[in-house]
Amino acid sequence: MFITLEGIEGAGKTTQVEFIVSFLKARGYETLITREPGGTRVGSQIRSVLLNPENSEIAPLTELLLYTADRVQHVTELVRPALEAGKIVLCDRYVDATIVYQGYARGLDIGLIATLHQLMLDDLKPDLTILFDLGPEQGLERAWRQINAGARTGDETRFENETLSFHEKVRAGYLERSRLEPERFRVVDASKNADAVREATLRILADELPPR
Ligand code: TMP
Repeated sequence: MFITLEGIEGAGKTTQVEFIVSFLKARGYETLITREPGGTRVGSQIRSVLLNPENSEIAPLTELLLYTADRVQHVTELVRPALEAGKIVLCDRYVDATIVYQGYARGLDIGLIATLHQLMLDDLKPDLTILFDLGPEQGLERAWRQINAGARTGDETRFENETLSFHEKVRAGYLERSRLEPERFRVVDASKNADAVREATLRILADELPPR
């Protein structure tokens, strides 16, 4: 089973990943816990190019191709082999992030992104996507608090430096995707505290995971 986590900056995905890992382990599932961009050795090099705040001149199409290159490497090297071995794959961000950030927010054609995904990734889609939803003011405030406190690196802030209206488009894009594919998406209110978010997330997993 392929599960992805999505949300704007500061939505708390990283904190939730830790809870989910313990939950899956306690239930004896074999798992691959991974992320995009940067799930592989080559991908982590692509990640530093993509998120470096000094790289403000990256063109939207370059950005799209770099995220896609990271994904091809990641799916080939890790995700497909794990799915074929029957593991639960939990991935922090995947193609919905590309549709929303490069499509809805940067303005690239959604059809082009879908075609690229079909051609390059054989249209591999998640079985379940948990969207952590909250307002961009709250998300960005949380993200910058963590960066300023040193809990997150300041070398990866290219997107945090984007305008509030960019992040509003990201949030609206995610909510629209969740309405277009309600069978795949589950939306969690991420404006609540970490315990409430954890409870909602684990309830979704308990309902959706295959039986052991
Ligand atoms: P994160 O690891 O903190 O989630 O940061 C990854 C950043 O990359 C985040 O700002 C969202 C962005 N992103 C895209 O713009 N497109 C993509 O396809 C992916 C996977 C991430």
